[in-house]
Amino acid sequence: KQHQDRELFSSEEDSSLYFTYSGGCNVLEVKNLFYEVDTAAQIPWYERLSEFKMPWEIRGNKQTAINKLSLTVHSGQMLALIGSSGCGKTSLLDIITCRDEGGIMKSGEILINGKRNTPQLVKKSIAHVRQDDRLLPHLTVRETLSFVAKLRLPTHFTQAQRDQRVDDVIAELRLRQCAHTRVGNNYIRGVSGGERRRVSIAVQLLWNPGILILDEPTSGLDSFTAHNLVITLSRLARGNRLVLLSVHQPRSDIFQLFDLVVLMSSGSAVYCGAAREMVPYFTALGHPCPRYCNPSDYYVIMNQHFSNKP
Ligand SMILES: Nc1ncnc2c1ncn2[C@@H]1O[C@H](COP(=O)(O)OP(=O)(O)OP(=O)(O)O)[C@@H](O)[C@H]1O
Ligand SMILES: [Mg+2]
Repeated sequence: KQHQDRELFSSEEDSSLYFTYSGGCNVLEVKNLFYEVDTAAQIPWYERLSEFKMPWEIRGNKQTAINKLSLTVHSGQMLALIGSSGCGKTSLLDIITCRDEGGIMKSGEILINGKRNTPQLVKKSIAHVRQDDRLLPHLTVRETLSFVAKLRLPTHFTQAQRDQRVDDVIAELRLRQCAHTRVGNNYIRGVSGGERRRVSIAVQLLWNPGILILDEPTSGLDSFTAHNLVITLSRLARGNRLVLLSVHQPRSDIFQLFDLVVLMSSGSAVYCGAAREMVPYFTALGHPCPRYCNPSDYYVIMNQHFSNKP
């Protein structure tokens, strides 16, 4: 057992967070996904009566949120979904983690290691950091993490090992200075917005998952912290994990850290492939990236212009 523990914590070159993931290789596949949302579904039927229509005559307002999207990610890779606001990034991540609300999956399937994504499977294998933080506002940062460590880590962990894990995560995400501040929320003043974002990520890192899904982890962070966070994520990916994240227009130094990129524009993937080959791909199509221009900025804006054309 001692040997097993050492294997879990073996940190080869790096002295900080756990760098080897001892579980097997994971594969996440999304095949030909087509997803539709009803933008009027939230309006109750009795409010629609003012339109002088009976409830069964009211047609929903259907909007395609994701159109024919396919992607495959393996352990050891970091895939970034980039695209402007409202292009369906959160919807896709929510569908993968079985948290889709109010939408209908018209076709396609999502496979985790060849099996369909059921809520049970997702709970065991995927850590999901959502776009909005869901934390207990009255606990301090350290209390939040200790609480999760108590609940989420395997039973054979001793208290000392749990505390060690909490310390490692706090150090990794630079939360030392606010470790004893309460988390807070919109109504209760607590840590800053960027710090709260990092606490949400810390909560998921704590249980050392094989698949990490993060929705806009860098939003609200300054460029130094954002860069460091993505470096941490890319190191986690090197340690045989699967990292899937969404970002709005990453800076070019962050963009270089990605292995795979999916550029989305109003629900469909405009580019899907290696990050290094994105600029050559668009150049071959007749859209070279201007000098001194950030490629992710340029192509996100360009695709937005194209999709807005009538
Ligand atoms: N349950 C729903 N009801 C109504 N509309 C929805 C629903 N879910 C998604 N949409 C619509 O689908 C589109 C995609 O939304 P989504 O939240 O995935 O965007 P996003 O890419 O995450 O944007 P952002 O970068 O701003 O977070 C939006 O136009 C949104 O209004
Ligand atoms: Mg979103």
